[in-house]
Amino acid sequence: MTKIALGVTSSIGIYKACEVLRGFQKNGARVQVVMTRNAARLVSPLLFGSLSGLSAIVDLFEEPVSRDVGHVSLAKEVSLLCVAPATANVIGKFAGGVADDFLSTLFLAARSPVLVAPAMNEAMYLHPQTQANLARLRAMGVEFVEPEKGYLACKDEGWGRLAEPQAIVREGMRLIGRTKSLKGKKVLVTAGPTREPMDPVRFLSNPSSGKMGYELAREALARGAEVVLVSGPTSLIPPPGARTELVTTAAEMQEACLRAYPGTDIVVMAAAVSDFRFKDVRPRKTGKAEVPSKLEIERTPDILALLGKKKKKGQLLVGFAAETHDIAGNARKKMAAKNADLMVANEVGQGRGFGTDDNELRIISASGPVHPTGKISKREASRVVFDHIEAALEKKRR
Ligand code: PMT
Repeated sequence: MTKIALGVTSSIGIYKACEVLRGFQKNGARVQVVMTRNAARLVSPLLFGSLSGLSAIVDLFEEPVSRDVGHVSLAKEVSLLCVAPATANVIGKFAGGVADDFLSTLFLAARSPVLVAPAMNEAMYLHPQTQANLARLRAMGVEFVEPEKGYLACKDEGWGRLAEPQAIVREGMRLIGRTKSLKGKKVLVTAGPTREPMDPVRFLSNPSSGKMGYELAREALARGAEVVLVSGPTSLIPPPGARTELVTTAAEMQEACLRAYPGTDIVVMAAAVSDFRFKDVRPRKTGKAEVPSKLEIERTPDILALLGKKKKKGQLLVGFAAETHDIAGNARKKMAAKNADLMVANEVGQGRGFGTDDNELRIISASGPVHPTGKISKREASRVVFDHIEAALEKKRR
């Protein structure tokens, strides 16, 4: 049975939390309510306990009814953490990593999707600090049901009223559905740069940090896929749950991709594979005086094009195109040349694309229009890319 943690904080909209709880129950979920201390001053935890059939948790240090209700174990059990209503205070704590009660520690421990429904006075909602906190959480991948405009408890009319319970429940159930949308699928993601050595201390490479590819691997895992991540050198921690193969050169990346390719349903090539390598690789460090003024280079294998040639019916190939000009035009040419199904174009150079936390994408398919994303975090970008991938898979199936 699906289990949901419902965080309840001390906004006047708290009365709607009962309807949210009921809505999740009607969808077949078991709901564990977690209240902040101030919320428990507005409404008795007994009410939520009676509705849910599970005692509402308030205190981090209260004697547990059972050892299984610790914040870490609850985080492992739930398919969704939904906070409705969410005050400016709890949003600020989440954004700042403050963990001083059960709900804020649960947020840090959660590996499930997190859905937040803010509710507060309009001035507090529109305050730059609250907006910055919301933006920070959005960049981390937290999802929101935006508040509505209407009559507020402070007798003001404006933005900040908690969204309707049905809208919160609908969004929560959609997020839970997404965690299984790639179940049974095998996804191969490449990330980071490759390094092509000249000798043991010098190489040809590019500024890719691997952030985009690692977020894509994380997103595929979050949707229930089995993930192989082939990564060039980065300083990132591989996402838990992915089978990660670390490589250095384009030739090694090609080998790892070819090994993983049979049985793979989706390939996403976000790696910035070096297009060239030195013809002559020296086994020992070359003294400055020995290096000729011209070094010969040759093309590396084009991995995506090779996979495109071997593509079987039902396999979906997604390439990334790093462009400085004629972004969509060049990406379309690459898509055709490499037999990819989708191309994700991003403008690079002048501080864009490489090494950044955000990206501005244009998602291109062979037939459809170009979908621009605007500037979004790489976390959010990976979601948009996988939404397009799932739509393309669906189209292929039909
Ligand atoms: O890693 P980050 O710092 O987060 O930066 C992200 C990124 C800018 C590296 C990423 O978003 C991106 O654009 N990756 C693709 C970069 C690239 O190599 O683009 P390209 O236009 O040169 O190549 C087109 C496609 O062919 C890519 O999918 C590439 O992986 C693939 N390719 C390229 C050359 C080659 N020899 N073999 C390949 O498979």
